[in-house]
Amino acid sequence: MTDSNETIVMTGATGFLGSHLMAALVQRGDRLIILGRPQGTRPLRERVDALLASLGATPKKHQVDVLEADFSDPSCGLNWHQYAGVCLKATHFLHCASDTRFSETNRLASIQTNVRSLASIIELARRSRAAYFHYVSTAYVFGAETSSCPEAPVIAARHANVYEETKAWAERDVAEECSRLGIPYTILRPSIVYGDSRTGQATRFTALYHHVRSLSAIRDIYLKEIRELGGEKARRHGIYLDADGTLHLPLRIHLPRRGSVNLIPIDYFVAAVLAVLDRPDSDTIYHLTSNRPVSMEELACYCERFLNIRGIKVHYGPAPEGFAPNPAEALFDKFVEPYRPYLSDIRNFERRHTDVATEGIDPPELTYDVFERCMAFAAGANWGR
Ligand SMILES: NC(=O)c1ccc[n+]([C@@H]2O[C@H](COP(=O)([O-])OP(=O)(O)OC[C@H]3O[C@@H](n4cnc5c(N)ncnc54)[C@H](OP(=O)(O)O)[C@@H]3O)[C@@H](O)[C@H]2O)c1
Repeated sequence: MTDSNETIVMTGATGFLGSHLMAALVQRGDRLIILGRPQGTRPLRERVDALLASLGATPKKHQVDVLEADFSDPSCGLNWHQYAGVCLKATHFLHCASDTRFSETNRLASIQTNVRSLASIIELARRSRAAYFHYVSTAYVFGAETSSCPEAPVIAARHANVYEETKAWAERDVAEECSRLGIPYTILRPSIVYGDSRTGQATRFTALYHHVRSLSAIRDIYLKEIRELGGEKARRHGIYLDADGTLHLPLRIHLPRRGSVNLIPIDYFVAAVLAVLDRPDSDTIYHLTSNRPVSMEELACYCERFLNIRGIKVHYGPAPEGFAPNPAEALFDKFVEPYRPYLSDIRNFERRHTDVATEGIDPPELTYDVFERCMAFAAGANWGR
């Protein structure tokens, strides 16, 4: 890329992954057309400018065009003049926008955004004679029972939620439509993404952050009760402050089986995507995943150390008969319920295509230092609230 005649049309630039990708593309000089939506009365242009500024990217004049779009409309919500302008300039498409909610109550919206909207975006790519259509999917398009996940289309899978289901469905539609229309495409499948491993920065705090924030909220409830009300309730739940100030917080986490959590930092995600954009292989799937997923025990240790608590125990297999969670455990269970399928994951991701395309760019390990940097940034940003 960075060829002076090339322009990338990007969706999802206001999201976590998209904002970091947009900033990196701007920094290396790519020309962009951002298609997105306003937030209430806040225009898209203002949102994009604020994100670029927060990520330290300063676009040159005319480097970033911003168009408010509606993908449910066959013309993407663009007027004739805007549509023709995109067709004239666009050479590549990077489709990052997605409804990322897991809840079944959002089924219709998820299908609309993740599947139905593809038709208008791919049609725009066709009319633009785009050289490539890059689709950001997820590594979790294979069902949770699949231990070996190839960089290949999903044939059949039992999905954990509507998000996974619609992403797998979208992959099939992207492959079919792009093949039918003669548009070369790639499918990029990241695993779970957290902040920048070097700076800790992130623009949204979901997934891994959600667990740590939940634990931090539970800790704060008990700390407040101990400090302000004498801690009688906490003591009844076996919770107390040690002499060194550590909160003893017994929390048993029951998981169906031993597995791991596949996490990659946003800087790796961005570097890997840029490498694929530079050397794409037509009709190819890439797993942007870690070679060393972390175990729940490691994550529990990291959380204990970061939050200055102790007492988290991970148990595998069904909870013993008559098991009654204490209030802290019940609260934690409730908070993390949607993410449960990802905590004891047995999926292994093949990375043959990725290794070739991203030679020399390796996913860094999630060490405690990296974890601390990212969580300190998130806590400093009040977990995005
Ligand atoms: N985060 C991860 O760990 C992760 C892991 C694997 C795969 N992915 C994939 O990576 C991509 C980006 O994820 P993310 O974490 O950055 O998600 P995100 O933070 O939730 O951002 C989603 C983006 O999609 C846009 N969007 C959602 N619904 C839309 C609609 N109806 N019309 C137009 N735009 C819409 C959002 O716009 P607004 O800002 O206007 O809402 C936002 O720009 C997605 O395809 C996701 O499936 C993410």
